[in-house]
Amino acid sequence: MMKTVFFGVVVLQFLGCVHSYGTGAPTSACGDMIPRHGVQPQPNPAPYTIQASSTKFQAGIPITVVIKGPDYKGVLLEARSGSDTTALGSWQMPPANTKFLECSGNKQGAITHSNANVKNNSTVYTWVPPATTKNIMFMATVVQQRNVFWVNVMSSSLTPSGGGTALDVNSGAERIITPALIMLIFPLAVLTV
Ligand SMILES: *[C@@H]1O[C@H](CO)[C@@H](O)[C@H](O)[C@H]1NC(C)=O
Ligand SMILES: *[C@@H]1O[C@H](CO)[C@@H](O)[C@H](O)[C@H]1NC(C)=O
Repeated sequence: MMKTVFFGVVVLQFLGCVHSYGTGAPTSACGDMIPRHGVQPQPNPAPYTIQASSTKFQAGIPITVVIKGPDYKGVLLEARSGSDTTALGSWQMPPANTKFLECSGNKQGAITHSNANVKNNSTVYTWVPPATTKNIMFMATVVQQRNVFWVNVMSSSLTPSGGGTALDVNSGAERIITPALIMLIFPLAVLTV
């Protein structure tokens, strides 16, 4: 009887593993970000880098994130601050073959794969920053194939900013547009008078 129960538990765990691999990381992996695949991570450095669209961020203004490197099948992606394992901010519209994972009580706190179809360096993730005065970085586990994965793949850190890149671009455009408008309006004003 005990043996049957034990066997049943092992089979369930095995099925659970396969299941979680195929359809994404479970919430229990939010903290250590280690896949429950029963094998060790590959030694770092990983062949992957995480590239963000900006080195600064502002609450509510989306940042896009790409995992550059060879094609991959599985992913767990979070934004964090320092060594704190809290998943920060809110991911938006998961790209094809990925989905949200609830982490740190936040339904859109992380992104994971929804199947084993290939993801690549054209897979773009969108993240909306929270209001914080701390630096953040993106941290990922990238699964190339079931037994080959890297943990602690990190982006460079992003700094909070009152005037982010988007504002800088706008004020740059204003600097160009304002003299152009004056040059356009001034002759008109002269002509009208
Ligand atoms: C992006 O993926 C393609 C196809 O796998 C690869 O040829 C290319 O080198 C990758 N680019 C980078 C920057 O890793
Ligand atoms: C990335 O994968 C998608 C879907 O499999 C494919 O259409 C696209 O060409 C790939 N891009 C690169 C750069 O490999």
